[in-house]
Amino acid sequence: MCFAGLVVLSVVFAGCRGSEQLRFPAEFKFGAASAAYQVEGAWNVSDKGENIWDRFVHTQPHLIAGRGNGDVACDSYHLWRRDIQMCEELGLDIYRISISWSRLLPTGYPNVISEDGKNYYNNLIDGLLEKGIEPVVTIHHFDLPQSLQDLGGWANPLIADWYVDYAEVVFSLFGDRVTYWVTINEPFILCEATYTEFLVPYYDDPDVGRYLCNKNVLIAHAKAYRLYDERFRSKFNGKLSLSTLFFWFEPAAPEEQEMTDLMFEYWEGRYAHPVYSKEGGWPVKLEKFLDDKARKEGYSQPRLPPFTPEEIDLVRGTYDYFALNHYTTRLVRRLRPEEREVMWPLIGSTELGAIMVHHPSWVTVNDWFALYPEGLRKQLNWLNTTYDLKEIFITENGIPLGPELDDKLRVEYYRSYLEQILLAVHDGVPVTGYTAWTLMDNFEWRSGYTVQFGLYSVNFTDPLRTRTPRTSARYYANVTRTRMLYPQNDVKYRDVLK
Ligand code: NOJ
Repeated sequence: MCFAGLVVLSVVFAGCRGSEQLRFPAEFKFGAASAAYQVEGAWNVSDKGENIWDRFVHTQPHLIAGRGNGDVACDSYHLWRRDIQMCEELGLDIYRISISWSRLLPTGYPNVISEDGKNYYNNLIDGLLEKGIEPVVTIHHFDLPQSLQDLGGWANPLIADWYVDYAEVVFSLFGDRVTYWVTINEPFILCEATYTEFLVPYYDDPDVGRYLCNKNVLIAHAKAYRLYDERFRSKFNGKLSLSTLFFWFEPAAPEEQEMTDLMFEYWEGRYAHPVYSKEGGWPVKLEKFLDDKARKEGYSQPRLPPFTPEEIDLVRGTYDYFALNHYTTRLVRRLRPEEREVMWPLIGSTELGAIMVHHPSWVTVNDWFALYPEGLRKQLNWLNTTYDLKEIFITENGIPLGPELDDKLRVEYYRSYLEQILLAVHDGVPVTGYTAWTLMDNFEWRSGYTVQFGLYSVNFTDPLRTRTPRTSARYYANVTRTRMLYPQNDVKYRDVLK
């Protein structure tokens, strides 16, 4: 369906519903999200330690589109007051930030706590709270200290204890003012993309590395959760989760259902089942599939490291809410023989022998991104019936577009995805909050500055990193104020931000 068709349908749909049905509950929290390395800059101020992205962009700049880097990024380290002002302009209830491990702990360990790092995050958190905006804090968002990477990073089981030491400092310093915590951002991407030569540290070890990382990430998260229970929960009463990137998958044809189910287990189950399911541990079918495959390939041990019974208990149930990063929906089918090639994880899985494609009727943005808002409602309902969840928080949702300020497609994306969330709420799914990705254009990892996700555009050639609201910012500000979704062609929202 063309874009215009989508708009017409949405307007008709909106016209059919009573206005109360299009209103978000008063307690629903609207927000935006960002991450330290993508916005802060100030990569070497004061005693900040080097992280894996600092190292990579300086030693292999040709591997980042446009040779971009996060040395200055949005300069939020200096411009955090302007960031808070933008949150206010948007009428946000919450702002999701992340803490840079190497800014707070320059050595990677708690033997040195940076005064400047501590002050920066205290100022940001206090500044938000003064304006009535609640900080949602991610403890780790892809930017591992280089010192720990040099010792194997997420493939070394000791990382779980290094991470817990870091998390303990974070809870002690900021726990009195933070309710929602995300322990680790998108473990799937953290592990899959880094061991398939996509994200940093950019290893080509798809057979083993990603599975070691998979298990270690879950153990690290679980140990931090248990620590919070023991030492901080009674004082601060916060809520912890890890943010999980879920695409919604549908079979490309009826005979692809089995492969689609396996893809669910591979993507979502590997990171969610051990934490959220009643029985814990790896998804059973997938574990068997991977074990059989490893054996056929001549490995003497499973490549996906088994959990001990104690580890299953450690990890199971370590959540207070479900943090969902949702961007798009994909159709799954088996690879044809001529398609057998190593694929990056958003396109398919060489391991499973599967590829993901778009439905011909969908509005598409690139090879991995299409608009299919109904997928989000289906996914929310699926989560709600598959796991025992009291609360689901959408910690990321957004669309990659170009630099234009009048970003009509982004408006339509937000409007239609928010509509599906609202419908899911009416279905009885306990969705309580939403942070749009992202507050402003920022360093989009390997894509550098060539792709924009921001509600605000940022002028990266201007030393002041001027931020300018896009049409989508005006639209979103109107949603947060009215708690209503206006159709794309309703111009009221244009007046909200000048
Ligand atoms: C998810 C990641 O958490 C974030 O860092 C990234 O920029 C967005 N997806 C968009 O790709």
